[in-house]
Amino acid sequence: MVEPLSVTRKRFLKALKGEAVDRPPFWIMRQAGRYLPEYRAVRATTKNFVSFCLDSEKACAVTLQPIERYGMDAAILFSDILIVPHGLGQNVRFVEGEGPRLDPVTDAGGLARLTRDGFDARVSAVYETVRLLAKRLPEDVALIGFAGAPWTVATYMVAGQGGNEQKAARLWAYRDPEGFQRLIDLVTEATIDYLAAQVEAGAEALQIFDTWAGSLPEHELARWVFAPIARIRAALRARFPHVPVIGFAKGIGPALPRLAAATGVEAVGVDAGVPLAFVRDHVQPTATVQGNMDPLLVVAGGKAMHDRIEETLRTLGPDRFVFNLGHGVVPETPPEHVAALARQIREWRP
Ligand code: CP3
Repeated sequence: MVEPLSVTRKRFLKALKGEAVDRPPFWIMRQAGRYLPEYRAVRATTKNFVSFCLDSEKACAVTLQPIERYGMDAAILFSDILIVPHGLGQNVRFVEGEGPRLDPVTDAGGLARLTRDGFDARVSAVYETVRLLAKRLPEDVALIGFAGAPWTVATYMVAGQGGNEQKAARLWAYRDPEGFQRLIDLVTEATIDYLAAQVEAGAEALQIFDTWAGSLPEHELARWVFAPIARIRAALRARFPHVPVIGFAKGIGPALPRLAAATGVEAVGVDAGVPLAFVRDHVQPTATVQGNMDPLLVVAGGKAMHDRIEETLRTLGPDRFVFNLGHGVVPETPPEHVAALARQIREWRP
């Protein structure tokens, strides 16, 4: 497999492949978002958040904003994990101050109203955003495509909203595992096509967000978290063997060392609850790791943030490590604290 020459210039892709780097690459989850005044300015021009995600020029512009300000090593496509249910024909909207609302799918009848027919047409603007980004990103910055993992996406599809400990999906999975499996399979198949199209449009690495993996007990992880991600990983590998995948299964703690072997992902995203020494000793030996500073340390800034960044880099750097937060950057984060974080990592040497 011959790779494009430019790949070797990108620190982020090297780290995912386990190649040596001068310092760890970094990016931050939700790096394009409400903590940035320039994001809020573009966001204010489109009321409806789904329409905003499907406006390729605006989505491209806000993806580039944090790169221009801070020089991250990777840009993540601006979109949302709930674009997949939208593509399947589910009604998805975002209510200001409350979060996402969907017409819930609770049974076989609701499932029958979803369809992959027309999926690509409903989400094609996302692929156009990726094409624009592939042309406009600086050549040393890698482009990450993404999707939600089937479990996490299903929790929103079934409850019609977030929160409430994902009870609706967990109960469906216990009461009617075969029926719930059909929903997971549908989302899995749509996600494979969706991520493959992002790669064809120019995405160089992919992240799968399983934000609510931790709401399942350990005995349910194999079926609803590992198996669907493994299926997505295998299908993509068959078509794009050189494109690395990051699996972010938040909140699974002691099961984290099994994620890479169980799914085939090259890199494992780590939330802030997992001790650095545990990551170094039990996850890093088999995968590149990405994470895991508490987003509130970037709100606090100053010495607390500085010392934790140093400790993280010293424990997990320089190789097989991507510096990130343990979850998305929060809206109240002062932009100058992100600047200090970026400077510290860029200047750090082992
Ligand atoms: O990381 C990035 O910069 C890329 C863009 C991105 C967004 N959402 C933009 C967004 C990504 C990768 C996501 C993923 C996502 N979306 C997840 C998984 C990761 C995580 O953070 O847990 C989840 C669970 C969602 C679902 C979602 N989207 C919720 C629950 C909300 C509302 C909560 C909130 O913060 O308002 C969103 C909205 C959303 N997605 C916003 C952004 C920037 C804020 C909406 C706005 O700007 O009006």
